[in-house]
Amino acid sequence: MIDYLHLLLESVGEDAGEVASYIPELANADPDRLAVAVATLDGEVYVAGDADTEFTIQSISKPFTYALAIADQGLDAVLERIDVEPSGDAFNEISLDPDTGRPRNPMINAGAIASHALVSGDDADARVERILDLYSRLAGRRLSIAEDVFESELSEADRNMALAYMLRTVKTLKGDPADVVRGYTRQCSVSVTVRDLARMASVLAAGGKTPDGDQVLDPAVNLQVLSVMATCGMYNSAGDWLTSVGIPAKSGVAGGLMGVLPGQVGIAVFSPRLDAHGNSTRGVRMFERMNHDLGLHLM
Ligand code: DON
Repeated sequence: MIDYLHLLLESVGEDAGEVASYIPELANADPDRLAVAVATLDGEVYVAGDADTEFTIQSISKPFTYALAIADQGLDAVLERIDVEPSGDAFNEISLDPDTGRPRNPMINAGAIASHALVSGDDADARVERILDLYSRLAGRRLSIAEDVFESELSEADRNMALAYMLRTVKTLKGDPADVVRGYTRQCSVSVTVRDLARMASVLAAGGKTPDGDQVLDPAVNLQVLSVMATCGMYNSAGDWLTSVGIPAKSGVAGGLMGVLPGQVGIAVFSPRLDAHGNSTRGVRMFERMNHDLGLHLM
């Protein structure tokens, strides 16, 4: 496996695209970093490249917070507030259904901010703490927040702030929108490596159970999360992704990309330059290559 992963990195070819710059701190990332990790359900993690380089989880946080919102509120209550339809729009589209006020799905920012707001907690800090606890259990180590990226994104968060205010008009969000955006931005600023993400993905692959036997997510919640990742995880390239790679996945603007092969493995890659959809250019290519070589596709 290790030999294959090294070959994969060597064969990934020329990079294209730009690192995300709308979050000023992300523009400082080394664009040439490249890493891959594969985690089995029994806890083995195989890596190649810059596997210990930390980057922020960004939108890869969204499926996990959605899981926590469902665990806290129940699926029906969450479905009343957040739809599960692919949007075909960009991740930061200001989109709420005109009739129901629901964001299209929990993977775009509107739905992710709604998920964050639906997590139980006495205040904004308590919500973030519960979210960080969940991510840490999934990763198998205590994770922390990259404060520099957090401050940087918060200073440019006007669009997410607008989304949060809109969510308050439909009563999905009841508290102070600024508090919710602050918490959501902290959630996106959790620092991870590909090892962490592969392990988190492997828990999703195992029906919500860690290699140590800790049932972190209820299997029904886990299934809901995987289903939404399959249809909406890659934003407006979700259709391309499902046809060319064929597994549930989630990308983040820092260059991480996580895929889940149910019942088998969790996979994560990292390469900071992004394509026009905000997905890692070489990350997508590595998954396409793995599908070609290993047959990941579920269909
Ligand atoms: O809310 C934002 O814009 C970022 N914190 C996360 C966006 C993101 O990762 C989009 N994914 N590719």
